[in-house]
Amino acid sequence: MLGAQSLTAGSNVVLGNRRSRYVTPKSLRFRLVTRSTASDEVELLESLLAAAKERKEKGNAVADAGSKSSGGSGYEGPSFNIKTFNAISPVGLQKYPSGKYSVSGDDSKLPGDQMAIMLRSHKLQESEVPKTVRCIARCGAGTNNIPVKEMTAKGIPVFNTPGANANAVKELVVAGMLVASRDLLGGWKHTKEVIRPEEKEYDKIAKRIEKDKAKFGGVEIAGKTVGVIGLGQIGMRVCEAALALDMNVVGFDPALSVDAAFRLPNNINKVSNLDDLYAKADYICLHVPYIPGVTHHLIDEVALSKCKPGVHILNFARGEIVNGEALNAKRRSGTWSGKYVSDFADEFIGDEPWHIVFPHLGASTEEAEENSAAMAAETIMSFLQTGSIKNSVNFPEVMLPPQPLGGYRIAITHKNEPGVLGSITTYLGDKGINISQQMNGSRGDIAYTVIDTSTAPDADTIQAELLQGQPAIISLRFIGDVFNDDFGTPGTFFFVRWAE
Ligand SMILES: NC(=O)c1ccc[n+]([C@@H]2O[C@H](COP(=O)([O-])OP(=O)(O)OC[C@H]3O[C@@H](n4cnc5c(N)ncnc54)[C@H](O)[C@@H]3O)[C@@H](O)[C@H]2O)c1
Repeated sequence: MLGAQSLTAGSNVVLGNRRSRYVTPKSLRFRLVTRSTASDEVELLESLLAAAKERKEKGNAVADAGSKSSGGSGYEGPSFNIKTFNAISPVGLQKYPSGKYSVSGDDSKLPGDQMAIMLRSHKLQESEVPKTVRCIARCGAGTNNIPVKEMTAKGIPVFNTPGANANAVKELVVAGMLVASRDLLGGWKHTKEVIRPEEKEYDKIAKRIEKDKAKFGGVEIAGKTVGVIGLGQIGMRVCEAALALDMNVVGFDPALSVDAAFRLPNNINKVSNLDDLYAKADYICLHVPYIPGVTHHLIDEVALSKCKPGVHILNFARGEIVNGEALNAKRRSGTWSGKYVSDFADEFIGDEPWHIVFPHLGASTEEAEENSAAMAAETIMSFLQTGSIKNSVNFPEVMLPPQPLGGYRIAITHKNEPGVLGSITTYLGDKGINISQQMNGSRGDIAYTVIDTSTAPDADTIQAELLQGQPAIISLRFIGDVFNDDFGTPGTFFFVRWAE
């Protein structure tokens, strides 16, 4: 046993989502006592024996039925069931192999319990996440429509799709620099609202266009300097595009990840102080997350006073990063003459001609929606089938090598506390289970441990004893070659402690 504490009726260990092949007798689930005694242990072992027999019988029955119905070919077992919110691009949904996955926005159309949630902008409520859900994926970068903190406490990884819409935003930023530099919008409006109504005939319109064009002159962006604040997925692409357009690039990102640093073009001037960027930039592009107290009103009166008086501000990140009131005041005082191109409205600026507002179009391209949905689907499949975690906003990255041939995997989400990992591996060692490889990562209060074994573990015994012996475990899954053997088949061997 792992420790003195045993599985108790009050300890809220619940059996998640077991639907088919392996079913632990109800007697085993909540019948254990607070303190282990010899008679309790005998009772436990008897229950485990009963569970093993039941599993063997059911397993045989399913295998027989399977081979009869499938003729030995194709997968005919239970599917992983994905619940969607919002209209998700079919390109993403088609990633799920039919038969092995069932996807629907309507619970009643899923053949069984929800095992993952896929959404775009739906504001997910905690009550919409049943205990059978193992992960949530947002098709997009931001996850503020998901109760991430609550999901973390429940041991549910939340995924996003970093970079999937970055090219779409980058292209709009390039357009933003162009509309700030050339009066494309003023010229178009003048042709439509002044020249056409006044001249009416083609010849006259053509002549008037030539006459009035001088009103809408501009400057080129080549040779100018763009200051990029935030050099992540979007910022990095903006740097590349600006260099390709013969601009100079100054970049600032004090929290740059190692991966992002490798992706950055060499020929940008990286500065460690925003003042250096403000002093040089003709355009400032914001590509940082909105973090209250950190990036809130990053561009304000003080920042603007350190910039060139004609600098254009491009905000395709979040409205709150720019203090519109300060921009308005600077414009009115005549100390700033640039344009503010933004994907967000600002209550202090309104309909000023120097404020060019798009209706949050940054990621609104077919390609971005397809990329996001495809990436979210792949992340979900990887997690459900192998336990790998990538692109999670609340879990550590744990990218797993393939399981050894014929191997078995135990994936455990637990509190990030000292001694938990050691107690799990000691327990398995005491059971005579050989660990062929193991990985562990932690992030904040949560840790995730994956252990591969070369021999088939007695899952019922292990899950019961591990859960009773190690209260820091939040959830536990067994994963095999999920569509090819009976171990970790969708709907089996998934346990969560938090429900009920
Ligand atoms: N307009 C749209 O439709 C749209 C679409 C996607 C994303 N966005 C916004 O763009 C932002 C950036 O997206 P991304 O995909 O590039 O994210 P990302 O996480 O890849 O990059 C953000 C970068 O900002 C850096 N950063 C954090 N705090 C900083 C600070 N105080 N100063 C400088 N750099 C800082 C980080 O280190 C990171 O490299 C998102 O947070 C989102 O708000 C908007």
